[in-house]
Parts: sequence; structure tokens; C-alpha cells
Amino acid sequence: MTCYSFASGPAPLPPDVIEAVAADVRRLSGSSYSLLELPFTNPLFSRILEEAEDDIRYLLALPDTYHVLFLQGGATAQFSLIPQNLCNGVAEVDYVDTGLWSHRAIEAALPWCQVNIAARGDGRTLPCPASWLRSPNAAYCHFTTNETADGLQYHQWPADDGPPLVADMTADLFTRPFPIDRLGLVYASGQKNLGATGLTLILIRQDLAERSSVTTPSPFDYSRQVQSRSKVNTPPTLAIAIAAHMLKWIKVHGGLAEMEANARRRSDLVYAAIDTSGFYSRTVAAFDRSMLNVCFRTPTARLDELFLIQAAEQGLLDLCGHIDIGGLRASLYNSARMGAAEALVEFMKHFQAKWG
Ligand SMILES: Cc1ncc(COP(=O)(O)O)c(C=O)c1O
Repeated sequence: MTCYSFASGPAPLPPDVIEAVAADVRRLSGSSYSLLELPFTNPLFSRILEEAEDDIRYLLALPDTYHVLFLQGGATAQFSLIPQNLCNGVAEVDYVDTGLWSHRAIEAALPWCQVNIAARGDGRTLPCPASWLRSPNAAYCHFTTNETADGLQYHQWPADDGPPLVADMTADLFTRPFPIDRLGLVYASGQKNLGATGLTLILIRQDLAERSSVTTPSPFDYSRQVQSRSKVNTPPTLAIAIAAHMLKWIKVHGGLAEMEANARRRSDLVYAAIDTSGFYSRTVAAFDRSMLNVCFRTPTARLDELFLIQAAEQGLLDLCGHIDIGGLRASLYNSARMGAAEALVEFMKHFQAKWG
């Protein structure tokens, strides 16, 4: 039986990336080291880091005015570290409150500054960027491009006409082209589209990298990490090496335009099955639906439970919704295959025929 995982993270990796990492773990080409033993001070590691950065710059067409940081701590750590790094004496910040992950970012910012809610979603739709009330005095405006737990995704980008924009792109960085030059800072955990847990990627514009506070712990101080090229302390070497393979895989498979086309094809198939079923229901509006996290329900919570059990018996794994939200969720990140979406749709039809 072919098994597919629809986990929200860590997400499945492409088999050839797993093979390449496994080979590096046995012995890194041109060296006597296993990847697991490679010191971060070794020139071989510097080469991995530089190649990863070059690929990031190529894929995103990242201007030279941006720095790339490879840090630890996950996006959740950044929720507290962003205000610590960027406020720099400014008391106010703007946040767009659109779902579970932006709520968490807001809660983490509250001890550090006055949080203005620039806009609030209603759980089914996203407030359009043109409607955000951005304060001229804010140190930055934070938004979440893809609400992983709620299944919402921004398909419009805000204009860069106020305080710098800060985007949590944990779920959709490297899944589509986007106007990076409008954003001051982008951050993402690695375990969805960029490989493995343990790496937090930060893209930061030079003017924001210059803001810093003496009280921020040095591993999380963006300006110090920029100066030492992500080596203030030991960087997550294994996760960086996995990301380096994943970035090459994205390049070989057509770059961001192709990642987006595939994500759209996979999610369109599942959404169409939901919308035409008369049995399943989508939890968000069509124009704000996520290409990465398809959230849906059967008519009852009891049937949702049964769906999960019977799907797992057919090799369709990890389809439960976020623990705080419930329902069902199919996460389909960069390495998800079209076959996964097709197998899910097939199962959905069988399940409906039996229980509908
Ligand atoms: C949009 C978003 N932000 C933040 C996080 C938290 O990431 P981490 O668990 O790596 O801290 C997640 C995790 O799923 C997420 O989807």
C-alpha cells in the first residue's frame, strides 16, 4: 500500500533529498566526515552555507540589500525576537490578526510593545491589505501570509507605503514567487517547505538589520548574526545541509513558478472534491483559501473521527486539523505529490458513498 502523509510539519521530503542527505550522513563527498560530525568552522560547512544562500538569492531574486540568516528557535521564537530586535525605542507596532498563528505572534509581542491591531479577520476571510489601518508611528507591521491552522492564505500583497512589513511565511516561503522588495523582514521555520526542523530562515533588509538592542541575546540579535554570517553560535548544521539539498531540488524542479503551479493543481483538485460533494464543507472563503493547507469537515465531528481512522487504514496519514481548531486538514507542501491529492480525493468519494 502506498502511504501519504498530509502532516502540517515536519512535512514529507522528496525521496531523492532523503537519499542525498543519507549519503552525506554516511560520508560527506570529498571529506572524511559524516555530515553529522562536520564542524561549523570547517570550510566545507561554509561552502554548504554559501551555496544555500546563493540558491535562496537565485530563487527569490533577492536584492543585495537583504541579508539571509540561518538561525535556530523556530518561528515561535521569532514572535518574541522580532519586537526585541526591531522596536529599538519605538513603542508601537501593528499586527494583522487573521488566525491562530497571528494570534500567537500578537500574544508574544505584547510584553515588549504596544500592539495595534491593524485589521482583524473573521476566520473565513482575510482583511484585504488595502483596508489595514497602519499607524505611521509603528516600528513595523506584522502579518501572516498563510494561516496554517485555519487554511487561509493571502493572494494579494500589501504595498510598501508605511512602516516596514514583517511577514511570517513559515508555511508558504518557497512555494510561490512574491514581491520580496515590499517586505522588510520575512521569517520561516524550515520543516514545511525547506527541509527539516531546527532551521529558522530570516530574510532581513539592511535598514532593519541595523536596528538592534543590547538586551537581545546574541544568538537572536539580527545585527550580530548578520556581522558573523549566522555563526554567533553553532548554527543548525544538519538542518541547513538538508535545506541546501531541498533548495537545489526546488531549482531542478522548475523554481517557484513551478512550485506554485503544482500547489495550485493539488489543492484545486481537493477543493473541487469538497465543493461538488454536497457532503464535505470548506471552512474558508474560496478567494482566501490556502494552496498548502486544505481545511474541511464532514457533516459531523463523529464522522470526522471516523474519516481519520478509515483514511489512515488506507495509508492516508495525518489528516487531522490543528488541535485547537479540529476538523480535517490536508497539508500539501512543496514535496507533496499529485498522487497524494488524487488518493485523498478517491478516498473522500468512497467515504461519502458509505456514510453520506
Ligand atoms: C504560520 C506559522 N507560524 C509559526 C509557526 C510555528 O513554527 P514553529 O513550531 O517552528 O515555532 C507555524 C507552525 O506550524 C506556522 O504554520
